[in-house]
Amino acid sequence: MSDVVLHADHLIAGYIPGINILNGCTMEVQDGELIGIIGPNGAGKSTFLKALFGLVPVTEGTVTLAGEDITNLRADQLVRRGVGFVPQTNNVFPSLTILENMEMGAFQAPKKINEQFDRIVEIFPVLGERRNQRCASLSGGERQMVAMARALMMDPKVLLLDEPSAGLSPMRQDETFLRTRAINKTGVTVIMVEQNARRCLQIADRGYVLDQGTTAYSGTGQELLHDPKVIELYLGTLGA
Ligand SMILES: Nc1ncnc2c1ncn2[C@@H]1O[C@H](COP(=O)(O)OP(=O)(O)OP(=O)(O)O)[C@@H](O)[C@H]1O
Ligand SMILES: [Mg+2]
Repeated sequence: MSDVVLHADHLIAGYIPGINILNGCTMEVQDGELIGIIGPNGAGKSTFLKALFGLVPVTEGTVTLAGEDITNLRADQLVRRGVGFVPQTNNVFPSLTILENMEMGAFQAPKKINEQFDRIVEIFPVLGERRNQRCASLSGGERQMVAMARALMMDPKVLLLDEPSAGLSPMRQDETFLRTRAINKTGVTVIMVEQNARRCLQIADRGYVLDQGTTAYSGTGQELLHDPKVIELYLGTLGA
């Protein structure tokens, strides 16, 4: 497989006119890949995902999806074209139930809701069992599952995940990585930002290191894990 599904080309973007957070981010993703994005706090990782998803204005550069220009399209337009996004925080509606949250994910395709719900609770059985529980009473890990499940309701081709393992216990973190890999194996291209850099690169096909708004390094997960510069600057000394 060598089909480019998503291409971000030298993106310049930011929240306030004249203050660029992204200073030329480039990423090329092949169909079916699992991509890990790592980098220090404040590097612009979340901003990068938001720029891909139309939530931060891109002032220069382009984003293409399967060859079509999608730069600065609105999030709802991107969802319709097969892009899903799970934000880093505030990613469920706490006052709604699990089922209602998942229904919200497919509000643009109401006919699909039942079929998609049944398919997705096979990946997340606990969500099916507890479908009528309000999300306010769920643990962090369970909320993360709901957020991912909601994004999957529209059957995305490309799924953007912002720190899915954040704030979870080590066991729950590992479940999240394995589940992400499992979702990827069903054919969904996954672009995942992670603080847990080492674990992320272990499961990723390829990775990008973002630093000060630019893609500083890229390579296969294994190449980055063993690159002395990447180890020194971004992974600490433990895995040398
Ligand atoms: N809504 C916003 N308005 C203005 N500036 C913002 C906003 N969100 C983030 N920034 C700034 O953009 C820069 C990059 O932030 P971003 O959240 O993309 O970093 P990050 O790499 O995701 O960091 P972390 O690892 O902590 O999640 C930071 O300097 C941050 O202060
Ligand atoms: Mg972030």
